[in-house]
Amino acid sequence: MKALVLAGGKGTRLRPITHTSAKQLIPIANKPILFYGLEAIARAGITEVGIIVGDTRAEIEGAIGDGSQFGFKATYIPQEAPLGLAHAVKISKKFMGDSPFLMFLGDNLLKEGLNDLVDDYKTKKPNAQILVAKVPNPQQFGVVEMNGEKVVRLVEKPKEPKSDLALVGVYLFDKTIFEAIDNIKPSARGELEITDAIQWLVDQKRTVIVKHISGWWKDTGKLEDLLEVNRLILETVEKSIHPDAVVDDKSKIEGRVVLQEGARVVHSTIRGPAIIGKDARITRSYVGPYSSIYFNVHIEDSEVEHSVVLEHARIHGIKRVQDSLIGQRVEVVKSHAMPEAYRIMVGDSSRVEVP
Ligand code: DAU
Repeated sequence: MKALVLAGGKGTRLRPITHTSAKQLIPIANKPILFYGLEAIARAGITEVGIIVGDTRAEIEGAIGDGSQFGFKATYIPQEAPLGLAHAVKISKKFMGDSPFLMFLGDNLLKEGLNDLVDDYKTKKPNAQILVAKVPNPQQFGVVEMNGEKVVRLVEKPKEPKSDLALVGVYLFDKTIFEAIDNIKPSARGELEITDAIQWLVDQKRTVIVKHISGWWKDTGKLEDLLEVNRLILETVEKSIHPDAVVDDKSKIEGRVVLQEGARVVHSTIRGPAIIGKDARITRSYVGPYSSIYFNVHIEDSEVEHSVVLEHARIHGIKRVQDSLIGQRVEVVKSHAMPEAYRIMVGDSSRVEVP
């Protein structure tokens, strides 16, 4: 069994962060989203992993390297443009050879591991195994219509969904998927859809089995989902203070707080669940529950809660930052210049909410 991890694509819904960096590398509880999936793949005993990369190849490759940090061998498969999930599979044909494979969408995060899914696939040996979850907004996903345990129809992002079962971004295939892909055409959005390829398997009476997800699952493509996974993951952290983290005697660390190496907390309160990254500095501030503060961030005279703050950002003199995703090297600072005004330089497609 091999794996195919999709880490290309555009990430339009998380602009401006994704103008410049890969959406799959946004950290959740200070670990890139993609790493959760890669760790689960390694735990499932898979040692050969193909990684689909696009414009952000250098960044993805920089983070994963040869895969040895996870315990597998990584092979990069460049995709000239995000032409669809099935296109990504098509270009991985040579890498896969005749091996069955697990396909994992790099922006998906799920609570359960992949071991049971892989074991089930190995026992039943279907042509495809898909994973589904009940969702309140099926029109935003691939939707599966079932009759008992049988798949009747799969439709990609239908306007009028016939069921509330969404396709989760974890699939298992044997080599017949390549034949299926050769028989489908690009969809209305111009992509070769894996959903259509699986429908072809169903139409050809190949075996497609469905598994229902047991824990939570999130596609982190949108800000609210990203903050929700951040909450779900932080919910599971245990208190841990690195021996090289510093907390002065005017500070309070309350609840499940992780302080990573070199983090400095001065005259501040950190209320967990929260994580403060390597060499971050929190001074005369409050960092509240469900905050992930990445490495080298400086927060001074400010309050931050329920937010993800990326590396090297500065937040100075801001009364309260909440429900926010703040990009790398961003500065949010109180100005004392007159006249009193918002002075803003933000990237394209940004959003700024002010009270
Ligand atoms: O998250 C589950 C959903 O993922 C499924 O319910 C849908 O059926 C499936 O089509 C997919 O929908 P999305 O519109 O969310 O896919 P997205 O374009 O976000 O791509 C998913 C991942 O694959 C993401 O990490 C980017 C990467 N990708 C995407 C495309 C289209 C590539 O590497 N290459 C591509 O060509």
